[in-house]
Amino acid sequence: MPSTVVVNTTPYEGQKPGTSGLRKKVKVFLQENYTENFIQSILDANKDSIVGSTLVVGGDGRYLLKEVVQKIIKISAANGVAKLLVGQHGILSTPAVSCIIRKYKTLGGIVLTASHNPGGINNDFGIKFNCSNGGPAPDNTTNEIYKLTTEIKQYKIVPDIDCPIDKLGVYDFTVDDRTFTVVIIDSVNDYVTYMKEIFEFPKIKALIQGSDQRKPFNVLIDSMHGVTGPYVKRIFLEELGATESNVSRINPLEDFGGAHPDPNLTYAADLVNAVKKGDFDFGAAFDGDGDRNMIIGRDAFFVTPSDSLAVLANNLHHIPYFQRTGIHGYARSMPTAAAVDRVAKKNGKEIFEVPTGWKYFGNLMDAGRLSLCGEESFGTGSDHVREKDGVWAVLAWLSVVAATGRSVQEILEQHWQEFGRNYFTRYDYEECASAPCNEMMTYLEKKITETGFVGSVHTSGGKTYVVKLADNFSYMDPIDQSVAMKQGLRIIFEDGSRIVMRLSGTGSSGATVRLYIDSYEASNVTGDAQVMLKPLIDVALDISKLQAYTGRDAPTVIT
Ligand code: G1P
Ligand code: ZN
Repeated sequence: MPSTVVVNTTPYEGQKPGTSGLRKKVKVFLQENYTENFIQSILDANKDSIVGSTLVVGGDGRYLLKEVVQKIIKISAANGVAKLLVGQHGILSTPAVSCIIRKYKTLGGIVLTASHNPGGINNDFGIKFNCSNGGPAPDNTTNEIYKLTTEIKQYKIVPDIDCPIDKLGVYDFTVDDRTFTVVIIDSVNDYVTYMKEIFEFPKIKALIQGSDQRKPFNVLIDSMHGVTGPYVKRIFLEELGATESNVSRINPLEDFGGAHPDPNLTYAADLVNAVKKGDFDFGAAFDGDGDRNMIIGRDAFFVTPSDSLAVLANNLHHIPYFQRTGIHGYARSMPTAAAVDRVAKKNGKEIFEVPTGWKYFGNLMDAGRLSLCGEESFGTGSDHVREKDGVWAVLAWLSVVAATGRSVQEILEQHWQEFGRNYFTRYDYEECASAPCNEMMTYLEKKITETGFVGSVHTSGGKTYVVKLADNFSYMDPIDQSVAMKQGLRIIFEDGSRIVMRLSGTGSSGATVRLYIDSYEASNVTGDAQVMLKPLIDVALDISKLQAYTGRDAPTVIT
């Protein structure tokens, strides 16, 4: 009979979950006991409820996934977990994990992903714990997990369990006289069933297939060799009548085919070019774990995620789920452009501004105050689960197109006519040296919080900006009153334009600086964002001395 073995171990430094879980190079996870320590600490952080519990386990298909799934099975068995629901081949998208946790009311789940970071032996892996509401663990839980990793002396494991995770089925093991069950579940079934409840699939199918009166709405859906491949196959090819020419890269690969599985204009350039060249009305791409989305229209007309959020907010009534639940409030992360705020105002709904990271939306959703939210970083989602959801966002967009009969560009232009336009761009300076970036943030915080900065005048490109407010953003959760400090430096000008700067919390090495620029125009709505925002970008570079501190004269990625 398989039985528990207690293994002595010592703590590793730096097992602190970032914006979204613990992300490190694969080689770091491969160190002796490194992964075991972290998994044991997750279970210990739940020690009051772990015995007899059920957990969901799955990830995005990247290198190391299957090995870590096996470790989780063995360590869970030793810690008294009663049942694991594991995606076949270890595959579950992040929103699917959230869906399954909620559907089967489990204690939580362990998501194995480094999201949009590259995969493969020389790249990243990640482990994230989600709670019983289906959402990423809040700060107090991740802090507790981190504390446990600094004190860990032993972990428990059942080395003799061998579970065939490639084969669907229910596998019972007798461990120390208890029954421990692993259910290998279909990776897509529960999620697809749910999508069919949320959306009107026949309408989307009619859009994609066309009719005598209307030609097919030609979509190109790009999974970037990430986890959404099997979901796209089932939903688009088998349910919605799309054909092979409508999908791309739908086979998950351990290294995402060597690409960076991040759906933005730089890393999803293949999709952008294909839509530009081809006769496509719509293009979409997802990241490695399927929670991010990018939407483009005909000729690769780009929809910024901030606008995508605002457009969906204004059109939720076309979606059956919201017809049933009603529309509660909206929310966005602080750096996200404020376009959705205007929709909230028009519709008389609450709007919340939270720190970067999906975990900050969960409490508001659980309290019934939030229906739709998003981040500028290609994250859009609703209270149907507690993660952002790429496939959901595409189905939502197709529902709006089907209901309005308009093209993506027409939808946007009409939105801007009604609400004005928040021009937005983000500059990423990836993998800079950490020390000078930290110095820059310290320098900038000091500068913008000194007396005299508010009211100061900044001129560039014929434009003049007067500082109205400048701070390091902090947030008090309206539901549990928990406080998150130092969430990004922001400078807000009299005309509502904003400069935001923060350091990434998801990188696995070095520092990534993110510079966000948001500027509102009531009537001049069809300009080019980079041209429109140039004066404010120059002001930001000047105030922050970013180029001197980072040694970079251009960003790695411009969105
Ligand atoms: C980034 C995004 C953030 C998102 C997170 C997880 O975090 O900026 O909006 O929630 O990835 O997908 P960052 O690297 O900026 O800390
Ligand atoms: Zn992701």
